[in-house]
Amino acid sequence: MSSEDSEDTAGRLPSEAELAEMNRDQLLKLGGQLDGVELVDYPEPWPVKGTRAEKRAERLIALWFTIAGLAGLAFVVGLIWWPWQYKAPGQSGTFLYSLYTPVLGVTLGLTILGLGVGILLYTKKFVPQELAIQERHDGEGKGSPEIDKKTIVAHLEDAGSRSTIARRSLVKRSMGFAGGALGLGLIGLPVASFIKDPWKDSNGPDSLWHTAWQPQYPGEVVYMRRNTGRPEDIVLLRPEDLDAGGLETVFPFRESERGNPEALSAVFLRSDSPVMLIRLRPEDALRVVKRKGQEDFNFGEYYAYTKVCSHVGCPVSLYEQRTNRLLCPCHQSQFDVLQYAKPIFGPATRALAQLPITVNDEGYLVARGDFIEPVGPAFWERKQ
Ligand code: FES
Repeated sequence: MSSEDSEDTAGRLPSEAELAEMNRDQLLKLGGQLDGVELVDYPEPWPVKGTRAEKRAERLIALWFTIAGLAGLAFVVGLIWWPWQYKAPGQSGTFLYSLYTPVLGVTLGLTILGLGVGILLYTKKFVPQELAIQERHDGEGKGSPEIDKKTIVAHLEDAGSRSTIARRSLVKRSMGFAGGALGLGLIGLPVASFIKDPWKDSNGPDSLWHTAWQPQYPGEVVYMRRNTGRPEDIVLLRPEDLDAGGLETVFPFRESERGNPEALSAVFLRSDSPVMLIRLRPEDALRVVKRKGQEDFNFGEYYAYTKVCSHVGCPVSLYEQRTNRLLCPCHQSQFDVLQYAKPIFGPATRALAQLPITVNDEGYLVARGDFIEPVGPAFWERKQ
């Protein structure tokens, strides 16, 4: 079908057979006619091929895509390997830790910026900037007929072809590099925080199986300590330090940490450290129902439960003495202290983990071992 033929179709719609035979130029022209669009000016962006200005424009675009690609790779590397664990002010590594979020923000921002600037420049420099006039008309809400689809595809293909993207391998390669790096970052973003092997060092205190209450060698005494706000002030608890009906949040302390400011403050930073030490009123203690297999986890009227809610891990911190209930403020789960802190209201479905405790020869409250079940919202291999 010649271009003259396509002009014949101005007054009537081409048949399907005619449409199938039309080339891109004809479809482009037809699309304009159908939409009442008149192309006033449709210049080639670079009428003279291979000029220095054209090459410069191409290199500039490739530079932006390369910046985006490198920034995207830096984002992925930072996301996975940058030291992200919290460091208190004064600890070694605080400065690097404080840069974690800015590094991620800057690299991801630069990736998107580089990609955006590259695409904008490409559109500006290489995609034809036609001048067209179109009559305005309303659609009839029936969706696009086949003829419109074909002509618009032809129009888009023509713009792509005239932009000469097919022969600009430098731009294509750098754009692919930038897009790939950004894609890698976006895939890595939700996955990176799960890159942890739960079975690695499964007996160590940092594993998912254990908490800071685990003795690090047989016979090590893990005391209960008060949080005075100053890690170096070590105040150990004796039973008489708590009134009947009282609750205190306590943290583990071991003699090997004395005089070691980093270890002393690290214990307060661990999410599995805080434990609620509760002293029941004598009349309430008589009504306690103990959990099977944990009958000796308390010491007289003293019970110790993790502070980490079994729903999604908020700190359970409200204790109503009159009803012996613990309340989690996040989603209002309530736990009955007289029934091994089992949930009696709200979305939590598991009891708060109970820490086995006793009083040692010196009269201090100590843990008799680690929790025997996962603390807080447990991971996939937990055993109930
Ligand atoms: S985290 Fe405690 S109720 Fe949801």
